[in-house]
Amino acid sequence: MRVVHTNDEVRDQVARWRAGGGRIALVPTMGNLHAGHMRLVEHAMARAEHVVVSLFVNPTQFAPGEDFESYPRTFEADAGRLREAGVDLLYAPQAAELYPYGTERALRVEVPALADMLCGEHRPGHFTGVATVVAKLFSLITPDLAVFGEKDYQQLLLARRLAEELLMPVTVEGVPTVREPDGLAMSSRNRYLDADERARAPELYRTLQAVAQRARAAGADSPACLEREALERLRAHGFRPEYVSIRRAEDLGEPRPRDRAWVVLVAARLGRARLIDNLTFRLD
Ligand code: PAJ
Repeated sequence: MRVVHTNDEVRDQVARWRAGGGRIALVPTMGNLHAGHMRLVEHAMARAEHVVVSLFVNPTQFAPGEDFESYPRTFEADAGRLREAGVDLLYAPQAAELYPYGTERALRVEVPALADMLCGEHRPGHFTGVATVVAKLFSLITPDLAVFGEKDYQQLLLARRLAEELLMPVTVEGVPTVREPDGLAMSSRNRYLDADERARAPELYRTLQAVAQRARAAGADSPACLEREALERLRAHGFRPEYVSIRRAEDLGEPRPRDRAWVVLVAARLGRARLIDNLTFRLD
């Protein structure tokens, strides 16, 4: 595996791959890799001849007061895992490579269709930061395919929409959420949970499963009522929920009775951690 830190090195490698043929896949990450990230890497390796992983804790997607400073940085361990998995190129830039003019007044990419709802409502500016860095990575690496986790469902749709609206010839593929044996979605932020919180955390996924099951039974009748019940259930288990929302899976619009593919999404605080999860389901 080649490890590079500059845009010039990436361009050079990509040009050589392009000359020889074969598909290029990108897996964007912020590092602190776990089995969820590695599933994305496996997916990329199965679908492309050349696999690039980017590792960059992107400052513009953290709001003031969020965990940018304390976000776990474990470069050596991450590089070891990626090398072992057979990744071709690890791109780990300093901020100046991706933000040559700094971050204050630099270019921003807005995706209004998806950025202002759900997590975007609770983390102002977050998805503009994500869209901006993803657009830069797509533009630098020109992947044929980019792999994102369904764990961050809103982000996955945003990446897809952004590529489409910017006319970028990249296919954005989603990979199902990898979970701990008790159902908790794997996340770098799970380390913020103490032992008691960790024991409660799987209730988040259980709540989603209950909502999906009841929505299927009730048909399209009562999403608002199911959402309210789920919020209460989470509060009773010590969570501070931000939202539970039942949406159309395709674009996160308000579901209409004729829609068949739905998703229920949740964000909730538990102790110091902000946890998100979601579950797609069909009504038929
Ligand atoms: P990060 O949180 O490191 O996640 C990188 C990718 O791994 C994302 O596509 C995310 O959805 C996926 N992922 C995380 N946990 C997962 C799990 N349990 N199962 C499956 N996939 C999982 O998301 C980001 O970084 C950043 O916002 C980024 C896209 C890199 C832009 O900065």
